[in-house]
Amino acid sequence: MQRENIYRQLPLKLLPWYDSEKRDLPWRENCDPYRVWVSEIMLQQTRVEAAKEYYLRFIKELPTVKDLADCPQDKLYKLWEGLGYYSRVKNMQKAAKEIVTRGSFPDTAEELYKLSGIGIYTAGAIASIAFSRPSPAVDGNVIRVLSRIFSDERPQSLLKTVFHNELAKFYPKERCGDFTQSLMELGATVCTPRSPKCLTCPLFDLCSTRSDALPVPPEKSPRKRTQMTVFIFSTPHGIGLCKRTTGVLKDMWQFPNEERKLSTKDAKKYLAEIGITQFTISPPKTHKHVFTHIEWLMTAYLVKTDTLLPQLEYFFPSEIGEKIALPSAFRWCMEIL
Ligand code: ADE
Repeated sequence: MQRENIYRQLPLKLLPWYDSEKRDLPWRENCDPYRVWVSEIMLQQTRVEAAKEYYLRFIKELPTVKDLADCPQDKLYKLWEGLGYYSRVKNMQKAAKEIVTRGSFPDTAEELYKLSGIGIYTAGAIASIAFSRPSPAVDGNVIRVLSRIFSDERPQSLLKTVFHNELAKFYPKERCGDFTQSLMELGATVCTPRSPKCLTCPLFDLCSTRSDALPVPPEKSPRKRTQMTVFIFSTPHGIGLCKRTTGVLKDMWQFPNEERKLSTKDAKKYLAEIGITQFTISPPKTHKHVFTHIEWLMTAYLVKTDTLLPQLEYFFPSEIGEKIALPSAFRWCMEIL
């Protein structure tokens, strides 16, 4: 069958399947654009099952765009704790402020795309699901489904644009949001990365792969490795933390650190240089933290001292659990206390 005819068939086959097989998910209760937005950002980094709980908690605390715009940063990061990629929620808050200033929620993919942190995928997802616009949202699920249907072996980075442009021409006139979600749903539940359930797939007749042979996995570039020495200053006034000012995890709380590996001897010298003369220092503990493109090779020292450093803020361990969101890159350090 010709590519165009296959595209024409997609909504006809997928929408009835979606009606009977779709999962009951909390963000499908209504089409409020704010809720769609929150769910789509969460789903970019978390599996559906895990996202449900985060989503319900987030919406309960911050039910409207205005609540998100006005939320204090520490509370916001605490709500995001466990999801990672804090820059996403930071951008969401920036966009929420833009929406409040603007006075209404943008209702086309083009306008949504102008907001902070909203890319082509998210703009298409919100425009189609919340506003029933014929705007595709091509995520990994959709790339997998379509690359298999067409046996298209081109790199996924290219296919993302190709499928976006092609799908846009064949969106159904009605039920645009359901069509978007049906493609994702098929990828998530039937056309899975491994062991796809081809025999129960509504697109079996259209598919020219019928296996997990595609898409072609992307070539991975090696991660950049950075050495880091972390100091956990334990004092009678609590544990010393500061905020990151640049790079990955910018604006998040962290234990003070140096971007190099310090032996115990070097660490003691460093402590003297920053004005800490009376202290005890633990043996080093090491840990590797892997981000998407970076690896931190971390060495941590527990330093017990009465000296307080003006550049740090001090919190008791219970506060760090309750009101401070400590990124998982640093959370392991709490075990050393
Ligand atoms: N993955 C990304 N968006 C989704 C949605 N709306 N439903 C299910 N899975 C998704």
